[in-house]
Amino acid sequence: MPAVVVVGVQWGDEGKGKVVDLLARDNDIIVRFGGGNNAGHTLLVGDERTVLHLIPSGVLHQGKICVIGNGVVIDPEVLVAELSALRRRGYLTDDACLKISDEAHVIMPYHKAIDLARERLRGKGAVGTTGRGIGPTYEDKMARTGIRVVDLLEEGTFREKLERNLEEKNIYLRSILKEPGMEFGAIFDAYRQHADRLRRYVTDTALYLHDAIRDGRRVLFEGAQGTMLDVDHGTYPYVTSSNTVSGAVCAGAGVGPASFQSVIGICKAYTTRVGNGPFPTEEQGAIGERLRESGDEFGATTGRPRRCGWFDAVLVRQAGRLNGLTGIALTKLDVLTGLDPLRICVRYRVGAQQFDTVPASTRVLERAIPEYEEMPGWTAPLRGARRLADLPPTARRYVARLEELTATPFTIVSVGAEREETIVLD
Ligand code: GDP
Ligand code: IMO
Ligand code: MG
Repeated sequence: MPAVVVVGVQWGDEGKGKVVDLLARDNDIIVRFGGGNNAGHTLLVGDERTVLHLIPSGVLHQGKICVIGNGVVIDPEVLVAELSALRRRGYLTDDACLKISDEAHVIMPYHKAIDLARERLRGKGAVGTTGRGIGPTYEDKMARTGIRVVDLLEEGTFREKLERNLEEKNIYLRSILKEPGMEFGAIFDAYRQHADRLRRYVTDTALYLHDAIRDGRRVLFEGAQGTMLDVDHGTYPYVTSSNTVSGAVCAGAGVGPASFQSVIGICKAYTTRVGNGPFPTEEQGAIGERLRESGDEFGATTGRPRRCGWFDAVLVRQAGRLNGLTGIALTKLDVLTGLDPLRICVRYRVGAQQFDTVPASTRVLERAIPEYEEMPGWTAPLRGARRLADLPPTARRYVARLEELTATPFTIVSVGAEREETIVLD
């Protein structure tokens, strides 16, 4: 059975958690393959709200296997806390339902300190990171000095690597960043405890997934962040430090490309962004405020207000191409109720020049003026809709126009945060 990949196509927070939770019903294994606890994926089932940072969004379904792949960077303290909280609620009580890659890299306290200190020093030029140490951990991975889960489990290896890293990081923290250094003992002891707690879940997840796919089990890969935050294809340098596009699934889970048949892009019916960087369709006035309020647009990880604006078809079309999307799940259509007219950006203009793609230059993108198409809005609440026919005609026309502009078939239209508030088209 070919595997499915789900990715965000904007700047993250598109509703990946909601859609993965929904699709998990029909899958056996749900896999995170990138990012870390910079991600915050929200699931609403009945009145019960769950925010997941590291554990895949299939966890609320009994008996599903959740896998944290090698491409993820793991803060063991956060993972242990998330796991314990879920277990207290009766989830993941069977240890066999969580598998953690032995090759995933570990976020250390100095990574967080470096992340935060650098952001402070950058001042106005800050990226606006989540401060979770994500970037510095991926840097160490590429520099070949990182500590992997398997290293954490071997006491001697961990001691050696931590000593060597601390020596270097303390010089950097003290001399360059003007921050206090860190003590070996406290870190060593705390991480040894986390290692003991997590050991039972650690395995060769690439092998596990290979065998599962070979045996016809249904595997769903859950992306984190969004395409415009991809370190290669996003709005660099205002991006995260990993690849977030669908192609990253192969390296981040250790699965070959022939295993995949469908790639579902999760896409909001408007646009949001947390953190800094260019955002052509941003609305800084009343409309932005209105979207933030109706859409409850506050970060699931940091609580920061999300910047809000109109749907950007240039950006989503580009994401469609970069991810090889076979379908789009459109989310948060209900949030647009009451806005009239609705605007859709169809191209950018910079001076006399027109852009149908997202320019690589930050300077150019910062100056991009969106060209809008206007469409009539609707006033009816949408959360009760379960078929397209239940939507007001103007809402149907808006969805149809987005589908046309993004040149990708829509497979789901989400009309509320709750699992059942969904129109399934395919
Ligand atoms: P993710 O990071 O892509 O998983 O998205 P987040 O969970 O960070 O942010 C999406 C937010 O929108 C969450 O609070 C969801 O509960 C909520 N949400 C998801 N789909 C819908 C929808 O169709 N309508 C509304 N109103 N909220 C939604
Ligand atoms: P999910 O999976 C939205 C943003 C940060 C910042 C930039 C770099 O919930 O969609 P980092 O801490 O990764 O170095 O920050 O990336 N960012 C996200 N924005 N959703 C996310 O994840 C994000 N993960 C990182 O706000 O702009
Ligand atoms: Mg999120």
